[in-house]
Amino acid sequence: MARRKKIYEGKAKILYEGPEPGTIVQYFKDDATAFNAEKHDVLDGKGVLNNRLSEFFMLGLNQIGVPTHFLKRLNMREQLVRSCEIVPLEVIVRNYAAGSMAKRLGLEEGQALPRPMVEFSYKDDALGDPLVPEEYIISFGWASQQDLDDIVALALRVNDFMSGVMYGAGIKLIDFKIEFGRVYEGEFMRLIVADEISPDSCRLWDIETGAKLDKDVFRRDLGSLTDAYTEVARRLGVLPANT
Ligand code: C5P
Repeated sequence: MARRKKIYEGKAKILYEGPEPGTIVQYFKDDATAFNAEKHDVLDGKGVLNNRLSEFFMLGLNQIGVPTHFLKRLNMREQLVRSCEIVPLEVIVRNYAAGSMAKRLGLEEGQALPRPMVEFSYKDDALGDPLVPEEYIISFGWASQQDLDDIVALALRVNDFMSGVMYGAGIKLIDFKIEFGRVYEGEFMRLIVADEISPDSCRLWDIETGAKLDKDVFRRDLGSLTDAYTEVARRLGVLPANT
């Protein structure tokens, strides 16, 4: 079989040309990175868990009418996705103060926010993905005002869905990051949720104990990251209860 053409290799994923035009194979690596890749490790099984979890969230979103790039899971580590033009923004939704927001504003981690808040970072590893206001996004042409309005509306729907699903599993959704892509259908452009949704890009705390079940376990050396992700997958029914 001919080798597939690699399109891009990132910190946690590799993208290959898909079998049909307009498709991409997304491969989930076991690599974990934090602090813009200053901290790095390879954690056996992380890619398998994130492939399953991202499938679970994207399928759920497709079902409630939030369009995503997800087409189907191919195997333990790969999924077929729609190719899209990535909007160069990391869209972060926060329900409780934590991480960079808590640090920037001197807030206590876990403090409930008055309402879900959406913020944007400009996707640029070399710059450390700086936080940017809407004014920059529109003025520099990274997205139009209409795109941004649609992105905020979609991000809040993703937040409602994810918060509900997590709550049902005894988990508090503190915050998360998603990315959007543009697909062109005839003369129309549509925004879809792209990249991945997994505990790598969310903060998830156990409702009862406050235990962290997300990448902060790795960032802050709090124990086994794959054990935490396995717990999330098990509670969501993505893995059998006895796994
Ligand atoms: O670090 P910060 O508090 O800004 O992160 C907010 C949320 O976005 C966290 O859930 C974090 O995991 C996620 N994030 C991400 N990728 C980044 C930056 C943040 O997934 N490059």
